[in-house]
Amino acid sequence: MRKGLFAGLALMMAMSVSAVQAEGPVEMRIQAMKDTGAAMRVLAKAAKGQTEISLLQELAAKTVKKTGASIPAMFPKGTGPDDAMMGDTRAKTEIWSDWKGFTAQATAMEQAGDALIAAVGAGDRAALGAALDQAGKACGGCHKPYRTPKE
Ligand code: HEC
Repeated sequence: MRKGLFAGLALMMAMSVSAVQAEGPVEMRIQAMKDTGAAMRVLAKAAKGQTEISLLQELAAKTVKKTGASIPAMFPKGTGPDDAMMGDTRAKTEIWSDWKGFTAQATAMEQAGDALIAAVGAGDRAALGAALDQAGKACGGCHKPYRTPKE
């Protein structure tokens, strides 16, 4: 437990540092997405039995839910690829032309976050694995239509 607590604090510190370093809306959401990717890896390790389910996984599950809930606010109008000064965003214009479809995927991610939180709370590896599948589908379900592939 103590080890989990320490790792949890380290993750929280890393996340608050990255929040300070991020500047504009694009940098901020890219950082939030990266933190979410890290959270997913932490959860996957526990689901596979490579680590215990501890406070670190609780934080990671909450991160997935929080990012899902924050997505609509992280993509304000005027931060798309055609807008000036937005730098290297991989957000597609379809986000704003199909806002309903986009936010539906954000809601799916938030709901997967709830499933992750429940599985972690129950200490249930099988449920955690299922919730991770659900979360992974939400990531892909949004990235495919709304994110430009890497060059
Ligand atoms: C509702 C849509 C949506 C959902 C759900 C979503 N993402 Fe994203 N994600 C995006 C968009 C759009 C970008 C590109 C942002 C940009 O470049 O401005 C992105 C970018 C990323 C990146 C790349 C960051 C970089 O280095 O450029 C990672 C990693 C990522 N997402 C992880 C995840 C993970 C993991 C999940 C699921 C747990 C997830 N995302 C769920 C829309 C979403």
